[in-house]
Amino acid sequence: MNSAHVDLTAKKSQSPVIEISKLKKSFKNNHVLKGIDLTLKKGESIVVLGKSGSGKSVLIKCIVGLLRPDSGILKVFEKPVLELNHQELDKIREKIGFVFQSNALYDSMTVRKNLEFPLRRHLEKESKEQINQRVKNALTSVGLLNTIDMMPSELSGGMRKRISLARCLILNPEVMLYDEPTTGLDPITGEEISRLMVQMQKKYNSSSIIITHDMKCAKLTANQMLVLIDGLIYAKGTYAELEKSKDKKIKAFFE
Ligand SMILES: Nc1ncnc2c1ncn2[C@@H]1O[C@H](COP(=O)(O)OP(=O)(O)OP(=O)(O)O)[C@@H](O)[C@H]1O
Ligand SMILES: [Mg+2]
Repeated sequence: MNSAHVDLTAKKSQSPVIEISKLKKSFKNNHVLKGIDLTLKKGESIVVLGKSGSGKSVLIKCIVGLLRPDSGILKVFEKPVLELNHQELDKIREKIGFVFQSNALYDSMTVRKNLEFPLRRHLEKESKEQINQRVKNALTSVGLLNTIDMMPSELSGGMRKRISLARCLILNPEVMLYDEPTTGLDPITGEEISRLMVQMQKKYNSSSIIITHDMKCAKLTANQMLVLIDGLIYAKGTYAELEKSKDKKIKAFFE
């Protein structure tokens, strides 16, 4: 009895949260993704490295449903995304936090309103005070409670990045997708954001895919790394493994 029970739990915790196989995406003659394989397990943090224009954002947009792949398998929480209707997709999207390459904050709204925005579907279920508490908790976890009544234009780039993070975390997502979370930030702020990502992942017990070409961010956040070259996963391994590689194309990322 006992061992069967243990077995079941083990199986459950190992089932991937995101499973991608032979994923392809072209724009006319531009074959961007030519057959990507990727498996993200619970609690894991995968960094995807790739040069500018290699298709990193396209990959992440396919996962979150903003772009439709041409073919391949794409399962999120074991559900085949390409076969789901709008309602089913919405349910899945609620469990995914997506930090855009540009922060995508609403410039005409205060920080508070920006954070309330993803909660609009919860307004009927939760009291004003509960919503207020959620906003405050999310801001506290990124260390920016004092900006609650400020406008995005009054914040620095690093602060805006933290607010975007808080806006994703407010829904307690099971999966976080980050597109270039540290680009455009100075190295110190970039490192702070990377550390915050690790901290949040532990706090919320979430899993992440992080798209970056910031090696410091990769080193701090990755359990596993994938190198995307010419539309395919060219290499995979831990940071330490890839750092040791003699392959010219991989070495180029570490220079
Ligand atoms: N909606 C679109 N329509 C047509 N082509 C697109 C579209 N989105 C992306 N592409 C093309 O796909 C390729 C990969 O773009 P993508 O934005 O994924 O690059 P990236 O790896 O994220 O680069 P960067 O590091 O500069 O953000 C580019 O050639 C781009 O022109
Ligand atoms: Mg991009």
